Amino acid sequence: MPKLKLPAPPSNPLTSPKRPGKEYGPSGPLGHAEEAGVTAVDWIDERTSLSGGLRWGMFRKVPKGTNWFYTLGSSTMFAFLSQAVTGVFLAMYYDPSATRAYASIQYINNEVFLGEFVHGMHRWGSSVMVILIFLHMGRTFFFGAYKYPRELNWVIGVALLVMTMTMSFSGYLLPFDQRSYWATIVGVNINGTGPLVGPYLSEFLRAGPYFGATTLSRFYAIHMLMVPGAIAALMGFHLYLVAKLGTTAPPWVKAEAPEKLREDKVTVDQ
Ligand code: HEM
Repeated sequence: MPKLKLPAPPSNPLTSPKRPGKEYGPSGPLGHAEEAGVTAVDWIDERTSLSGGLRWGMFRKVPKGTNWFYTLGSSTMFAFLSQAVTGVFLAMYYDPSATRAYASIQYINNEVFLGEFVHGMHRWGSSVMVILIFLHMGRTFFFGAYKYPRELNWVIGVALLVMTMTMSFSGYLLPFDQRSYWATIVGVNINGTGPLVGPYLSEFLRAGPYFGATTLSRFYAIHMLMVPGAIAALMGFHLYLVAKLGTTAPPWVKAEAPEKLREDKVTVDQ
């Protein structure tokens, strides 16, 4: 049988193949930097296939009529991330001891570089997050987004709301000044009046029968470790469901009948 002739080998097998619309190989330092970035991302993607998941989550079809109100969920998430970042910096200087907490806050405000700014961002940011979460909840309620098949996302949202309020409540005690001390005593006592679980809840929050030094540690642990972790986990699940189910169209946007059905309707009407 006659042997087929082998094709000629490429002139330089080490250079990468030409990308559509690009010159052969990277040109200039910027081109090399871009190529290096693409190569690094490709390297990770080849071993993890993460880009598939990212594409699934990010490049979604959105319903007609999607408007600025749909950004309230992402804004709430951004507020949470800002709280997490500023909180980490505050934790570097804050001392959760009943005798030193107040002084450590004074130190953050008066001595630490940008301390007052970061503290202010965290303090005002908590109110921003609470306002945004209520606006987002209002949007999902008035657009009917809590209905089938998104009931579970609504329930997760309610848990996120409770935890956000818990963050505000537990954070309020941390400066340990007169206002935060007495306001928290009132808040814990109100919790104690709740049916059945009330007394247990207030005892848990006080870390005992009386408001004492360990109460501050208890609030600090709730504020720093317990709740933020749970919020991050639930937020992940909330966003997974948003990507899986898609978002609801505004109630004033009517679904358009497909072309075929429209033709059938015209035929029937005649
Ligand atoms: C930490 C708090 C929260 C974050 C970060 C968050 C984030 C998001 C994001 C990014 C979306 C996509 C669409 C949009 O932004 O409107 C969304 C949708 C949704 N959220 Fe939230 N959310 C939070 C709290 C809540 C609360 C408190 C509720 C209600 C009790 C809720 C119920 C829903 C529902 C039902 C949807 C689906 C909306 C639709 O299909 O149009 N979320 N959330």
